[in-house]
Amino acid sequence: MITGASSGIGREMARQLAADGTALVIVARSEERLTDLAKELGVEVQVMVADLSERPQVDWVAERLAASDKPIDLLVNNAGFGHTGEFADLDIDDESSVIDVNIQALSRLSHAAAAVMRERGHGGILNVSSVAAFAPSARSATYSATKAFVSSFTDGLHQELTPHGVHVSALCPGLTRTEFQERANYDTSGIPDALWQEADVVAAAGLAAVAKNKASVVTGAQNKVAAGFLKVAPGGVRRFATEKLNQK
Ligand SMILES: NC(=O)c1ccc[n+]([C@@H]2O[C@H](COP(=O)([O-])OP(=O)(O)OC[C@H]3O[C@@H](n4cnc5c(N)ncnc54)[C@H](OP(=O)(O)O)[C@@H]3O)[C@@H](O)[C@H]2O)c1
Repeated sequence: MITGASSGIGREMARQLAADGTALVIVARSEERLTDLAKELGVEVQVMVADLSERPQVDWVAERLAASDKPIDLLVNNAGFGHTGEFADLDIDDESSVIDVNIQALSRLSHAAAAVMRERGHGGILNVSSVAAFAPSARSATYSATKAFVSSFTDGLHQELTPHGVHVSALCPGLTRTEFQERANYDTSGIPDALWQEADVVAAAGLAAVAKNKASVVTGAQNKVAAGFLKVAPGGVRRFATEKLNQK
């Protein structure tokens, strides 16, 4: 099961898993995109049209995870988004929605998957975080905080579930060419090409990480360096660096 499979990283993961003959459950709001993708994939695909900011719809997806008929072997919690701007200027309902999808839905779906996978003694959960997890940032305060939750939460689950044979990994991409930046109203003009990664490369890194049960993977050399710096830099240095980057 892949959430947020209608575009970007999630869609690339769907393509890569289908290329190996894996049957899929794909989840997102855009029905037409999901059904088009299902036709393209050439494997058995269940389409679940769900808005993961809505609790009843999350519960419906969680029920599918818990079902013993056609059990789910791998959950990819990929659906996520953010908004760019000063928190006080952003719509608070929109910001709450970021928390609902990036945190609430992710933890509820992880819970449903963890329970059945632990019982079965195998399975995998791949949670899509971000290098933003290591970089509390002005004009992206809510989004960065949600990704800090995802990384921390996933590390804890990794520790709990590894002894039960269940793989749990966090995928931490940096700038990736998808619809994310446009949806976030994030001006990317002037960002050098060298800082970007393609969605298929990021998707492959995530799937490889969960196959190997790596607790966390940061994709791309440029992001590995940035994440390494952000993890150890004193707060003042980190804030100065992220502010400079934001200005650029
Ligand atoms: N692109 C980057 O630079 C970057 C960097 C670091 C981390 N990430 C993370 O990567 C993940 C995938 O993002 P992406 O870059 O592939 O962006 P994207 O192209 O915008 O894809 C986001 C996906 O999430 C789904 N989604 C958003 N809100 C949803 C909701 N309320 N209910 C259900 N599905 C929802 C979207 O589908 P619908 O609109 O059809 O619902 C879409 O399939 C996100 O968690 C993002 O935070 C991205």
